[in-house]
Amino acid sequence: MVRVLLIGGGARESAIAYTLKKNDEVKLYTLMKNKNPGIARLSEEIKLAKETDLNEVKSFTEKVKPDLAVVGPEAPLEAGVVDLLEDMGIPTVGPKKVAAQIETNKEFMRNLLKKYNIKGSLMFKAFEEYGEELESFIDELTEKGIKAVVKPVGLTGGKGVKVVGEQLKDNEEAKKYAKEIFETGLGGGKVLIEEKLEGVEFTLHGFVDIDSIKFTPFVQDHPHALEGDKGSITGGMGSYSCPDHNLPFMTEEDVKLAKEIMEGTVKALKEEVGGYKGILYGQFMLTKDGPKIIEYNARFGDPEAMNILAILKNDFLEICDAIVNKKLKNVDVEFENKATVCKYVVPKGYPDNPVKGEPITVDEESIEKLGAILHYASVNEENGTIYMTGSRAVAVIGVANTIEEAEKIAEEATKYIKGEVYHRSDIGKKELIKKRIETMRQLRGF
Ligand code: GLY
Repeated sequence: MVRVLLIGGGARESAIAYTLKKNDEVKLYTLMKNKNPGIARLSEEIKLAKETDLNEVKSFTEKVKPDLAVVGPEAPLEAGVVDLLEDMGIPTVGPKKVAAQIETNKEFMRNLLKKYNIKGSLMFKAFEEYGEELESFIDELTEKGIKAVVKPVGLTGGKGVKVVGEQLKDNEEAKKYAKEIFETGLGGGKVLIEEKLEGVEFTLHGFVDIDSIKFTPFVQDHPHALEGDKGSITGGMGSYSCPDHNLPFMTEEDVKLAKEIMEGTVKALKEEVGGYKGILYGQFMLTKDGPKIIEYNARFGDPEAMNILAILKNDFLEICDAIVNKKLKNVDVEFENKATVCKYVVPKGYPDNPVKGEPITVDEESIEKLGAILHYASVNEENGTIYMTGSRAVAVIGVANTIEEAEKIAEEATKYIKGEVYHRSDIGKKELIKKRIETMRQLRGF
């Protein structure tokens, strides 16, 4: 038996738990904020506690004595949970605090790419205080015909990024927002101003053991709340991947370059902080000049983890073991040649004004009969009833030979989740994918 400690209780961690449990040797012990009923069912024991509370993590670890730990979300990485667990002698899938800066400190990430001359960099400047220099930088970008992106340097749960021409009307609003970040201390209270990129977003994940990176299929997430890519930015409303593991708007050169950027980053992290291990997630913009990094994340994407893990052929425990023991080089990481479509069912009003504490009913049997995979996300089970917490509630995934079939399975599955909820039915549909292909065709002019 292998005792695995899992930190985190969302749909991403549900996918991790479900995939680990495909190996009968795994006994799971989970520390999470709310009671995720799916994860609870797969676990020998759960502890409801804040995932960033190092004392709680320590005492649960002392109690359950795991052989291995897997950390799902970014907040515990920033809090130093991996450092704590490794000091306790527990090999852990996830980067130490210093390496997790690739996600938790956007200034560190941009400087790293610049210092090591990694392709895919862009114009940026970080500011410790509000002033003329910040104002001029925003205006200088405009003079070059470039719009500004304003973001806090630290973590904000995906809600801190604002773009001129989208959430910010003009440069004046951009400056006002920058001022607000300093005043409120949002994401650490430091501001990064970056060049806005035009193109189509995609994500690439790799398993990393300090020296080697093994890539997983490319995935496209949908951050906007509403159909047709409208509405506020969310944690991600759903995602798809293709049977050939590439995306239909990418060329072979784009694929090669995206991989080289991540390989370069892993090497740079070894030089700079002694190495990175865990899951590395590159969030890219495909521009007319090729892929550029928008952000890095030090963990699996949510929802992307559900696409990737649904078609992983290997024993995930074996991959985790290779990550912590620097043996990835010897592992052939393989995925089924299937399409995947994931759709999130979320509370009405999400993300700006979500209903909270509302019950939902999930007809698990019918979803299973359809052949769809179900992962509970930010819900809390109390006395057999599932309550939404205000964030994404339930994810359903279709896996099939084509995107069309996978989309139909996922869409059908959403009908069995009832309550004050909504979802984006356009994710994975032909029209939306065609739109991405057309955007890239127009940008590249071929
Ligand atoms: N897919 C967005 C995220 O995981 O941050």
